[in-house]
Amino acid sequence: MSLRKNNSPRVLLIPFVLITLTSVAVYISFAQQTQTDDRLTGNWAARNVGSTDGVTRSTYFNLKYEAGKITGTIRATQFFYTIKESTGGPDGFTIIAAMPDGRSERRVQYEGKLVGDELRIGRRNRPDQPITEMVANRAPAGEGAMPARIEPPARHKVPYNGLAKTPPMGWNSWNKFAGRVDDAAVRGIADAMASNGMREAGYVYVNIDDTWEAGRNAQGEIQTNKKFPDMKALADYVHKKGLKLGIYSSPGPNTCAGYEGTYGHEEQDAMTFAKWGIDYLKYDWCGARILYTDEEMPAIYQKMGDALLKTGRPIVYSLCQYGRLDVWKWGPEVGGNLWRTTGDIRDTWDSMTGIGFRQNELAQYARPGHWNDPDMLEIGNGGMSDTEYKTHMSLWAMLAAPLLAGNDLRQMSHETLAILTNREVIAIDQDKLGKQGTRFSKNGDQEIWTRQLSGGAIAVAFFNRAKDEAKMSVKWADIGAPAKRKARDLWLHRDVEAKDPEYSVTVPGHGVVMLRLK
Ligand code: GLA
Repeated sequence: MSLRKNNSPRVLLIPFVLITLTSVAVYISFAQQTQTDDRLTGNWAARNVGSTDGVTRSTYFNLKYEAGKITGTIRATQFFYTIKESTGGPDGFTIIAAMPDGRSERRVQYEGKLVGDELRIGRRNRPDQPITEMVANRAPAGEGAMPARIEPPARHKVPYNGLAKTPPMGWNSWNKFAGRVDDAAVRGIADAMASNGMREAGYVYVNIDDTWEAGRNAQGEIQTNKKFPDMKALADYVHKKGLKLGIYSSPGPNTCAGYEGTYGHEEQDAMTFAKWGIDYLKYDWCGARILYTDEEMPAIYQKMGDALLKTGRPIVYSLCQYGRLDVWKWGPEVGGNLWRTTGDIRDTWDSMTGIGFRQNELAQYARPGHWNDPDMLEIGNGGMSDTEYKTHMSLWAMLAAPLLAGNDLRQMSHETLAILTNREVIAIDQDKLGKQGTRFSKNGDQEIWTRQLSGGAIAVAFFNRAKDEAKMSVKWADIGAPAKRKARDLWLHRDVEAKDPEYSVTVPGHGVVMLRLK
């Protein structure tokens, strides 16, 4: 009876209820997941409004969450990444995204989670680097999408603009000011250059680097941001000082720092620059890499070379693409007056010498109108000693490199000014024969470089890359010194004995002795 009782319909209900409950639970969790998809899927923007320039630069996350995976794209400053891997979901995820960059690939890692209707995200460029935090909100679909690709033009030779017969000299804002450059600073620099002897020593270009840009107006014209209220007025000011004004942009939709580039507006921007009174353009590859391969660089640079010529205004054309694709071989053909040969310089002995002493093989490509550019000077920025800065100045002069001071000219030491305005060293840099110097010998840390000058003169530099002083010698005959010669020490500013058969000198650690032979 009891058994019967146990087998009553009420008891039989138990498994039925259990099955039903399980199905409901599965259903709810499935429903939750579907709901979760909606929470993460869509376009998100983390907007960053610059406190001094007022420019909004956004990072876009265009995401899709499906079957436990996050896919989509991320656009940040100059970069456009595709998500390659993901773990987790809306309540905590990690994504790894990548983009091709020349011959290599850039990777970035984001970690984030949804909190309410905000996406809290942190970026890590490398596992050992700290996280950069940001908050993204829903953005209209399509905003921040990859711009349509404009096919590069067919190649042709851009005629030489007749400028930069000697390496350009002046100043550039990036090394010292980076994003802090503004109208007042540029005016102050121009004032300094016009009154401290630099202008007379040959420094003419006052070059504004990245971060001057805002967006475009309804006609598509590029606008300056709050830091530069009136570029034309600034150019007028600089011109009145007997100086010239330079500017910066990128062939990409964005510059390196994520501001507006010239993409699709090349001719229009060149015209705007000309209208403002710009005399020099540094054109930085950066944002173009999301649309073009390295092999397409020449065509893209040619486009701006043509556009600058078309303005009818003499504008020095400076290529900045870090020496990729052997730019020295095609720089002149696209109208370039100079081209960066390396990545960015830093204010350290290792960075400066690493770049400078690597330029030997490129000597054959430099000539009047077309120069190798080992990057801007760091002299006076504080990371090196004055002895090391003299080496920097001497090496750049031997290399016939552009001399673009990168320090705050409004407040510098007498020693810094003396190094920058050493006219005898500048004369080597600016020698009108335009032949870049080369390494004559290397003996451990001691290197002797020579440079052929106009009128049969020769410059010889004894570089001591070691920490301790070293005695260095060279036989006059070996470097082809004239038989009847006069030798002048360009840092001591006096003539020195130049008797046969050789010259011997003690060079301080990290220092240089530089001579001119005639
Ligand atoms: C690149 C260039 C630098 C400077 C910055 C500005 O890194 O190589 O010289 O112009 O961009 O964003």
